[in-house]
Amino acid sequence: MVCGQVLKIWLITVIRSEDGFFVSEFEKDILCIGAGYVGGPTMAMIAFKCPQYKVTVVDINENRISRWNSGNLPIYEPGLDEIVEAARGRNLFFSADIKGGIRRADIIFVSVNTPTKTFGAGAGMAADLQYWERTAREIRECSDSPKIIVEKSTLPVRTALAMEKILTAENNGINFDVLSNPEFLAEGSAIKDLEDPDRVLVGSRETPAGLKARDQLVEIYANWVPKDRILTTNIWSSELSKLVSNAFLAQRISSINSISALCEKTDADVTEVSRAVGMDSRVGHKFLNASVGFGGSCFKKDILNLVYLCRHYGLEEVADYWDGVLRINDYQKRRFILEMLAAMFNTLAGKRICMFGFAFKANTGDTRESPAIGIAGRLLEERAELVISDPKALENARADLKGIPGKVSYEEDPYAAASGCDAVAVMTEWDVYRELDYSAIFRSMSKPAYIFDGRNILDHKRLHEIGFNVFPIGKVALTHF
Ligand code: NAD
Ligand code: UGA
Repeated sequence: MVCGQVLKIWLITVIRSEDGFFVSEFEKDILCIGAGYVGGPTMAMIAFKCPQYKVTVVDINENRISRWNSGNLPIYEPGLDEIVEAARGRNLFFSADIKGGIRRADIIFVSVNTPTKTFGAGAGMAADLQYWERTAREIRECSDSPKIIVEKSTLPVRTALAMEKILTAENNGINFDVLSNPEFLAEGSAIKDLEDPDRVLVGSRETPAGLKARDQLVEIYANWVPKDRILTTNIWSSELSKLVSNAFLAQRISSINSISALCEKTDADVTEVSRAVGMDSRVGHKFLNASVGFGGSCFKKDILNLVYLCRHYGLEEVADYWDGVLRINDYQKRRFILEMLAAMFNTLAGKRICMFGFAFKANTGDTRESPAIGIAGRLLEERAELVISDPKALENARADLKGIPGKVSYEEDPYAAASGCDAVAVMTEWDVYRELDYSAIFRSMSKPAYIFDGRNILDHKRLHEIGFNVFPIGKVALTHF
């Protein structure tokens, strides 16, 4: 105990500021640039677990920062409010002062967005690195002391080299060590994933300075992550592992979704097939749920990026292989619409369709690349009227569908949303949809009443008994015709 107190006194650091020197009560000053779905929760967890570090999160989006400082956080994530509440103001801070944050920091995480490029060379494929490069330049311009720069964003392999070149371009004598530390959290389970990760990956240069920087980052995670789950690799393996992890996960979903189409033709049941295949411990049972297609901000963009990289290196066959994962995902969404059309006598014009869920998955309000967006757009093209319901994503749904011609209304209560509709289409696997009184819903709907279960979460036999015409994914449809 006494030893611990002595140690704490020794670890108090002297920080240089613009106006001179001051003593910080914290062991390290950690900055994160980018207060989004990754930067916010990741830094909140570090601050929550490590009160000895000061953690500041900055962003160019001042509105986002003020929401992080309010009781209404900018993202919904189970468990997030509690950890932010515990650490904010103690050792967790959200600020729009990017320059000041950079100057003071010892370690800077860069967690800005890296979307797919929409213009110029590589449009629609390559990662758009403009936000990331702007950050690198800002770090160089505002730094007057050595820093460790941590790539938290998902980036193309070998980006660290470009980061190093930008940081050292002015030759100002300041030393920067660049590390790769990709994030593997999934939305909806981010807090659990951060608290108890399968692994934390840290890639570094294999030079004495690179290894020293790596050890400093490992030390942060070792505050709560067992050492055997902190994996260290060379920097390029780390960058590439992130793209490959997402590609493998998405590939499993496309694999089972491709088989769901075959199940529908052969009276096999995709849930039974998935269970039988997944019980082989070499395959494993996770990520084999057939669905209306995967969404989310990352799977598509990261695979596009992987495909682009492969083509860049002349690996056409490899590129085509991974491109297939995306083609099956588009096919699955198209199939869903065509099935709705065919089931409802080839016309949706004037029919009211209720979408249960708009988020790309349960337990998040995020709708980025949600299959619901494209499906809503196609239904509106067919002149259907839409009623969108979702427990957390209505604000984003409104923004996504803004300007698309057609009749759309938004209703959080699923009973009110389904009332008077011809069909319900389950888009998101929210638990609330499993537990509804479907007899009451059936009574309130136009007849014939349809359910298209894009997530296979409902009791199809029971729904059929109630009177619905039921169309699951990868299973025989149960109809009354
Ligand atoms: P996001 O869009 O939610 O957040 C990025 C933030 O960076 C935005 O708030 C934006 O305003 C800010 N920003 C952009 N340029 C800036 C600049 N120059 N200075 C300061 N702030 C700036 O994105 P996200 O979902 O958090 O993803 C960030 C990165 O993490 C991406 O590379 C993504 O691929 C990766 N990733 C995301 C997830 C996820 O679940 N969303 C999981 C793992 C990895
Ligand atoms: C995914 C990865 O799981 C994370 O490890 C990674 O960090 C993150 O991408 C990222 O880089 O952004 P996320 O997209 O948040 O996380 O959510 P997932 O749970 O992977 O789901 C992605 C999509 O696949 C969702 O639309 C989900 O409904 C769908 N899915 C998932 C299925 O259709 N079937 C399944 O069996 C599993």
